Amino acid sequence: MSQISSNEANEGLYSPTVLKMVYTPVVIWFSHTLAWKLPNPVVHRNHREHVGRTHLTVGPGNGYFLAKLPKNTPLRTLHLLDLNRACLDVTAQRVGDRFDVHTIEQDALQRWPVEEAGLDSVDCHMMLHTVRGKNLLDKEALIAEAARALKPGGRFFGATVLAKGEGVRVNGIARRLLDVYNSKQNTFCNLGDSSEDLRAILDKHFSDVQFQVHGCTGVWVATK
Ligand SMILES: C[S@@+](CC[C@H](N)C(=O)[O-])C[C@H]1O[C@@H](n2cnc3c(N)ncnc32)[C@H](O)[C@@H]1O
Repeated sequence: MSQISSNEANEGLYSPTVLKMVYTPVVIWFSHTLAWKLPNPVVHRNHREHVGRTHLTVGPGNGYFLAKLPKNTPLRTLHLLDLNRACLDVTAQRVGDRFDVHTIEQDALQRWPVEEAGLDSVDCHMMLHTVRGKNLLDKEALIAEAARALKPGGRFFGATVLAKGEGVRVNGIARRLLDVYNSKQNTFCNLGDSSEDLRAILDKHFSDVQFQVHGCTGVWVATK
């Protein structure tokens, strides 16, 4: 298992070239579909249905899902929060002509520099499994920040790769990738992450939680 230390940027993995040329086919098309069994249509639907006028994305990667929002999306002001500068820059370039984009370069476990109860929606897709921690309880600060930053009735939606728990099915490809990625520094850190812990933390911070397991991912839409 990877050494648990502080969260640090991974500039080799998240370089502009990787984000523009490799990330979409390898991670979003191949790994989501064949390893983690996360249906991309569910992620698109959740973005379409739950993004509000003022939104914050935690860990935007290359901005793939934000760029696919329909023309009639209510989104106007978009905050991007990420530890890796290239993810902020590539996503801002990709969607900056559609939305008023603000970037925040920091660890998502630290307090977010946004007003309390000021956001309509927050999304966090496929990044909690990369955050350092023995298990999801060590990552609770991120979910607590989403709750603090949202208006009453605001939506927090996302997905993460889980290693165990009720309903979680880890196929052969996923098992191999989990082992390899968890052995690398600043790549994955999720061997202790379970569906029960994720559900319990969401229930603690949000009034209504819709939670589903797809393959070895937990997918949620939570309302403050
Ligand atoms: C696997 S990518 C997911 C990208 C995107 N959300 C998607 O679903 O396609 C993980 C993202 O989380 C960011 N990230 C990882 N750990 C982070 C941390 N501790 N704080 C903030 N961002 C982090 C990475 O830089 C990257 O943008």
